[in-house]
Amino acid sequence: MIPVATVYHGAVINPRTLTSYDALPNCLLAVSPAGEIEWIVEDVVDSMVQEIMFQKGCPDAEIISLKHGEFIIPGFIDTHTHAPQVPNLGIGGQYQLLDWLESCTFPMESKFANVDFARRTYRSVVRRIIDCGTTTCCYYGTLHLDATKALADIVHEYGQRAFVGKCNMIRYCPDYYVESSAEQSLAATEALITYIRSLPPSNMSDTTTTKSTSDPLIQPIITPRFAISCTSDLLNSLGKLAASDSTLRIQTHISENPKEVALTKQLFPNSKTYAGVYDDHGLLRENTILAHAVHLEVAEMELIAKRKAGVSHCPTSNFHLSSGIASVGEYLDRGIKVGLGTDVSGGFSPSILTVVQHASIASKVKGFNPTLNPPKSVHAVSFTDQQLSVATLLYLATLGGAHLCCLDHQVGSFAAGKSFDALIVNVRDDSGNPTLWSGLTENPDLPNRRKDVLEGMLERFLFCGDDRNISRVYVQGRFIGGKEFKK
Ligand code: GUN
Ligand code: FE
Repeated sequence: MIPVATVYHGAVINPRTLTSYDALPNCLLAVSPAGEIEWIVEDVVDSMVQEIMFQKGCPDAEIISLKHGEFIIPGFIDTHTHAPQVPNLGIGGQYQLLDWLESCTFPMESKFANVDFARRTYRSVVRRIIDCGTTTCCYYGTLHLDATKALADIVHEYGQRAFVGKCNMIRYCPDYYVESSAEQSLAATEALITYIRSLPPSNMSDTTTTKSTSDPLIQPIITPRFAISCTSDLLNSLGKLAASDSTLRIQTHISENPKEVALTKQLFPNSKTYAGVYDDHGLLRENTILAHAVHLEVAEMELIAKRKAGVSHCPTSNFHLSSGIASVGEYLDRGIKVGLGTDVSGGFSPSILTVVQHASIASKVKGFNPTLNPPKSVHAVSFTDQQLSVATLLYLATLGGAHLCCLDHQVGSFAAGKSFDALIVNVRDDSGNPTLWSGLTENPDLPNRRKDVLEGMLERFLFCGDDRNISRVYVQGRFIGGKEFKK
């Protein structure tokens, strides 16, 4: 039997489906030394805790008891962000995509040619993203191999779960920030894959002898920046690389801005659509993460659904760069996988909580102009032109993101055998966030451990919470960040 390292006792929020989650006010959740969930018992009466631990064969395991106003929730999954753009947070909102790349983004990213600068910057970037509650992150680095290796090293050291890719970009970029050829771009990508796969296993407790069977925490990801920055030859060689290993994830941008879509069609006249460009080069498959997808044609939605690829919904960025509003409800109705992305620094916040808030607003604005003939939903409810519920927003931020990254067997919700990637959230008045008033410190007699009270706490956290409410961040059972983490 695998020894239980820690048992968490308190309220747990567990996403189930696109439209449902469990609010469990009184749980015991046991985590093994390898960071895997061993068992969960719901509806535990306090006086039964010791007996249950005894029955489970771990009477002496450490117990971490949550206070009223604290709960455990799966860690957030940021399915699209750019680590080297964090220093640009908040600037550039006067531009649209192509001008923004030229004026703000490429000048900043080019600085990462200096590996010392990259290392210093990425240390604060990764720390900040972890403290925002992101336990799995899909990172774009720059085009630089060494700086992106440094990003992987830091993610590895800090113990976050991540996909790390270096951008492939050989055209439509400035002379000072462009790769020299398709061959060089491919070789650097292969070198990064080899490097990341040779990192030692991270995040295992020193005292642990039990080996986890789960995937490594950091994995490489093929990252053609977008079709425009690649030639057909380069996309073909990346498609061949992908074909050589079906586990390699692919991330790219799609259909974010009308001028970008027009230029893509001009550059790839042999492909029927923007999504078709990726498909024609072997880059559209089950583990492809397509960021934005604001202006998709129906044929593209059908193709993406057929290939089982998915969309990273980035509403903060889509508002900030005036890109538009993605038809997320329609994608869900068509059975397309959807997760959330901060898209820093198109998006001006590194926190998935901000993205949750904007995803809610985006869905409401979309509903102001209802589609005349919504597609037939594959779900019990239609999402098209409907506001996204708390359950749906929670799902997109956690299990939906995991599904998009093909990691839902391992993270995104709590179940025996999954990894303990989790947050301890504190919505008490003593959190230091005055916006999230809960009355919990003033009135300690509020009904304790009631399902409806817990649901209210979750809703407040999603809409008014920030990093001050994230006390602890765990990845694979290891405490790696949050307000209580000693840096
Ligand atoms: N398309 C190509 N590169 C980028 C980028 O860095 N950010 C966004 N939002 N879109 C892109
Ligand atoms: Fe992006």
